[in-house]
Amino acid sequence: MGRFYIFLTLCSIILMGLSSVHCIDEDPVAVEDWFKGINTMKEKITKLHFYFHDIVSGNSPTAMRVAQPASYTSLTGFGNVMMADDVLTSGPEPNSTVVGRAQGIYASASMEDLGFLMTMNFVFSDGDFNGSSLSLLGRNPVLHEYREMPIVGGSGVFRLARGIATAKTYSFNLLGDAVVEYNVVVSHY
Ligand SMILES: *[C@@H]1O[C@H](CO)[C@@H](O)[C@H](O)[C@H]1NC(C)=O
Ligand SMILES: *[C@@H]1O[C@H](CO)[C@@H](O)[C@H](O)[C@H]1NC(C)=O
Repeated sequence: MGRFYIFLTLCSIILMGLSSVHCIDEDPVAVEDWFKGINTMKEKITKLHFYFHDIVSGNSPTAMRVAQPASYTSLTGFGNVMMADDVLTSGPEPNSTVVGRAQGIYASASMEDLGFLMTMNFVFSDGDFNGSSLSLLGRNPVLHEYREMPIVGGSGVFRLARGIATAKTYSFNLLGDAVVEYNVVVSHY
């Protein structure tokens, strides 16, 4: 309890100095206060660049099929549902710095071409964004060079975020593993 109190106090001191800085996972009163101050805050643009490692093969996959159609099979894999907890890194190499995780579902939602429904939370673990998240909801036509998907919200430093994620496949192998480059631009307070 003592610790929690000290944490809150530190938070409040920081808040007094910089009105747009706030803590994550705050109590409802603090969240409401933040909303009350919104007219005095400046909307800002943040750009993020990272690589998404979708590993489906081997002994420690980070994405796995959790549902599939009972009988129907199609060339596009329509109906397959994957759950992912994919690592996000600063560079394309698997051993480059981890900056967060992409946790959520991607599912084949198109009968005629390869198109995934993506419902993903990017949760960041790095620097100023540590603990903050962005929510992506969109259509991912994976064979296109660039796929544009909406960012529909966020938490922590990304409260009220909206923006665009642009995905581009960096590399893939025949086992289905892929590294995807993401450029994200969001506007938030
Ligand atoms: C990452 O892996 C590559 C080989 O794939 C190696 O050359 C490089 O030194 C590694 N980097 C680090 C930081 O471990
Ligand atoms: C991120 O925050 C957690 C606790 O919220 C902390 O344990 C961790 O060290 C932080 N990581 C970085 C890179 O700041």
